[in-house]
Amino acid sequence: PLQCCINPSILSADFVNLEAELARIGNADAVHVDVMDNHFVPNLTIGLPVVERLQKVSPVPLDVHLMISDVDRWAPSYADAGVASVTFHVEASDAPIKLARELRARGAKAGMALRPATSVEPYLHMLSELDMLLIMTVEPGFGGQSFLDVVLPKIRRAREAIEGSGVDVAIQVDGGITEETITRAAEAGANVFVAGSAVYGKSSPADAIASLRDAGQR
Ligand code: DX5
Ligand code: ZN
Repeated sequence: PLQCCINPSILSADFVNLEAELARIGNADAVHVDVMDNHFVPNLTIGLPVVERLQKVSPVPLDVHLMISDVDRWAPSYADAGVASVTFHVEASDAPIKLARELRARGAKAGMALRPATSVEPYLHMLSELDMLLIMTVEPGFGGQSFLDVVLPKIRRAREAIEGSGVDVAIQVDGGITEETITRAAEAGANVFVAGSAVYGKSSPADAIASLRDAGQR
């Protein structure tokens, strides 16, 4: 079976107590950090100074999801902060292959994200440049939305292409992941699962992570 990673999203955590919120998810594989600029998406969260501080105190690796415009300019600085992975939206990049190479050269895993309506086919040739493909299962911008089943065939095609070409690329899904929807995403071929409300919305985030991990094993 594919390895199953559960990456809670701090978008659903208490932004005034981020260090304490990280301590509640010590059994997670990584913490998903949503960076939004109120331009690429209609919401604003945190930027580089906060990510740099999180990197210094987090007990788990940082999985940074950049929902920002002009990402070719900004993403390398996040890699320089020492985070485990940096994921940029292909819709916001002028030169995705160049950017993925730059992230890897700076020591981060390179992730590329697709909005729900963005096709994967034009990017299958560049899978070897990536460590992770993030297939959004909601429109980026907000936590607490419903999982879009319409995206499942895209996950399936991406998984087939990855297996067919023998590259080692994780498929991350983000948005509306619950104990119910995670099984469909896993069955389609996803193996890294972001969950905001389904982790931080529970009284025990650690128990929620354990339950999601069981359910996400395909
Ligand atoms: C949405 C963010 C997600 C969000 C997911 O744009 O990218 O990471 O936190 O939240 P849930 O799991 O509540 O859908
Ligand atoms: Zn995200």
